[in-house]
Amino acid sequence: MSEDAQTGNLREVLRSCLRGIDPVDVPITNPLGTATIALAHPQQFACMHEITRRAFAEYDGKLNPPSPAVTITLDELTEQMAEGGGVIAYVGDLPVGSALFRLRPDHLYIGRLSVLPPMRGRGIASAILDYMEIIAAAAGLGEMRLGTRVSMERNIALYERHGYVITSEQPHPATAGPDKVVWMARRFK
Ligand SMILES: CC(C)(COP(=O)(O)OP(=O)(O)OC[C@H]1O[C@@H](n2cnc3c(N)ncnc32)[C@H](O)[C@@H]1OP(=O)(O)O)[C@@H](O)C(=O)NCCC(=O)NCCS
Repeated sequence: MSEDAQTGNLREVLRSCLRGIDPVDVPITNPLGTATIALAHPQQFACMHEITRRAFAEYDGKLNPPSPAVTITLDELTEQMAEGGGVIAYVGDLPVGSALFRLRPDHLYIGRLSVLPPMRGRGIASAILDYMEIIAAAAGLGEMRLGTRVSMERNIALYERHGYVITSEQPHPATAGPDKVVWMARRFK
């Protein structure tokens, strides 16, 4: 069996472990309330796309190189979830946050973490990160990884508060500019 086929089989096995992961209700602050965090169904991918575009709009014209999330299409986002899936956060019936994950043989990769600007600072991204741990554990994975930029100090602080540590800093592959990609990881078993 080719390496690609083996990896494809492994992903199917990992994905089958995700069936049956229930949504969770978590308390949020500012003001006090409840958010519901759940695996996203394909019918919700367009909604995730809208949240991602609105969340990353603040970086439009401000990053060198630009974040692909600013201009990402629904097809691109869907393609990026092919190796895993999506997580969506609701407050009441309002979708307010999302992120994607990819299942790798030895870790779960988290990407496109997004919360709508008016809903920030309430713990919604934190709740999504916690839910990613449930997903990773269900898939038998004991490590989560993500990438951000040196320039995004508040994001690095958020991830450090969740137990992530910086594993490497690399020049961005698309530019020789000063901003660097920061890779972070959290092991939990
Ligand atoms: C980063 C982001 C997902 C945080 O969402 P959130 O629900 O506000 O996060 P939480 O409430 O769980 O935690 C708040 C922490 O997030 C971090 N943060 C990063 N950018 C932030 C922003 N613009 N507004 C508020 N918090 C931000 C800070 O560490 C903040 O803590 P602080 O207020 O003590 O500084 C959200 O700000 C966002 O969508 N930003 C744009 C997209 C982005 O940068 N995604 C991550 C790419 S690596």
